[in-house]
Amino acid sequence: MIHPRHLFEEHGQEQVFRYFDDLSPDRQDELTRQASAIDLDEIDHLVETLVKHSPGSDPSSAQIEPAEYIPYASKEQDFLSWQRARTAGEQAIRKGRVAAFTVAGGQGTRLGFSGPKGTFPISPVREKSLFQIFAEKLIACSQRYQCNIPWFIMTSEENHEETYDFFSDHAWFGLQAENVNLFSQGTLPAVDREGKILLADKHRIALSPDGHGGSLRALVRSGATQKMQAKGIDILSCFQVDNPLVKCIDPDFIGFHLDEVSQLSSKTIVKNSPDEKVGVFCQKDNNTCVVEYSDLPQQLQHQLDSSGALRFRSGSIAVHLFDRKLIEQLGGNACDGSLPFHVANKKVTALDQKGQLSEIDAVKFEMFIFDALPFAKNPLVLETLRESEFSPVKNAQGKDSPESSRRDQQRQFARWFRAAGMDLPCDAKGTPEIKIEISPQFADSKEAFVEAWKSLSPPPVLEDGLVLEL
Ligand code: UD1
Repeated sequence: MIHPRHLFEEHGQEQVFRYFDDLSPDRQDELTRQASAIDLDEIDHLVETLVKHSPGSDPSSAQIEPAEYIPYASKEQDFLSWQRARTAGEQAIRKGRVAAFTVAGGQGTRLGFSGPKGTFPISPVREKSLFQIFAEKLIACSQRYQCNIPWFIMTSEENHEETYDFFSDHAWFGLQAENVNLFSQGTLPAVDREGKILLADKHRIALSPDGHGGSLRALVRSGATQKMQAKGIDILSCFQVDNPLVKCIDPDFIGFHLDEVSQLSSKTIVKNSPDEKVGVFCQKDNNTCVVEYSDLPQQLQHQLDSSGALRFRSGSIAVHLFDRKLIEQLGGNACDGSLPFHVANKKVTALDQKGQLSEIDAVKFEMFIFDALPFAKNPLVLETLRESEFSPVKNAQGKDSPESSRRDQQRQFARWFRAAGMDLPCDAKGTPEIKIEISPQFADSKEAFVEAWKSLSPPPVLEDGLVLEL
């Protein structure tokens, strides 16, 4: 077998083995192992197309149109379709056709939190972590439908162990350990502006996560898709780790997905301002796609339609339903499509020419999960309400922060109380004056809360710190 050192020389990446002869046998092995896992043809292609010849602006961007979506308002006007969807969705969940999937490989840099983001304490009273909230929502759903809902979680090399320990230390939050499947996403080497692979140390390549789009490869490689197939699961309900309001499993959404025979369905909300940092569902060359906020031209961001609403208003909350076959197609080695790569120009701590660690202008390669949309048959976009399903934790302060997310959880709980006939004193924006919390296992929706509240006899006193849980 050819030693990777020779392969790296053939591909013009000999600098990776510059210190090889001076390394201890253990370290030589480590570098060899890392190097063997790199697909040099892929790196050549990425360097050629994205580093040496920047793709420039997309010539077809002028052809962007807003994507169509099923409006939330149709829930009242077209009640029967929504009811039919719910029944179909519930049936699929009951039959065990649905699994949950969280992308949790990100680094949470903007939040300024050093641990895995899913471990961040976010519920308003109990300070439950994001992972615990999702776990409890999944337990509530599997109890309601008397079914098993496996949960796949994609971590990264950097946070895998810590994530595993967190679940294990908390007894898997009441889930069966074998039902929680953690696997690490792939990595790609960072390169300098000339396309040369960087070293993080004399015996280590500077690797970085391949983006949440890497999840499709990782789902196949880790055996998750095979496991799904064996269990008769054909729908994967995907969501990001940062949004405690997410409906991890939504029967209405699943029903529309099935009704449309869609391979990839997505949820949207109306953007709250032209510059809100969410991707936008668009139509480009007859394909549905997401144009990332940083890529949507200013003029289109602000464009209004004839009713005075934002024309490109359909924001992505990064909640998708994937048909398992589409994951197998895009994440496997089949030649009928693979996700494109994006470049991120970032400083990376790596060895410079003199062998000293320094901050180097580097290029990282990432895939985005929503780039699967143009490959999907019958993609569908369904509108939902921001207040019910989207309040992510991204920044340390201000918009999309722990404070705003806890406030939005409280407002949701207050609306549920109101629906049950209890008026909690609230400010003008609906934030309750006392701190309350409703555990997903007590109720995970307004309807469930109204039912559960009725069964409390006597009902608890509404006081600061009230927690309703099983
Ligand atoms: C993301 C979406 C944006 C969407 C918004 C909704 C991208 C590029 N943009 O923006 O269209 O409107 O969320 O909240 O995703 N992750 C991994 N591995 C990685 C990188 C990220 O698992 O290599 C995970 C993170 O853990 C997180 C999610 O992907 O769960 C989103 O990543 P983030 O970089 O925070 O995306 P946003 O810029 O917030």
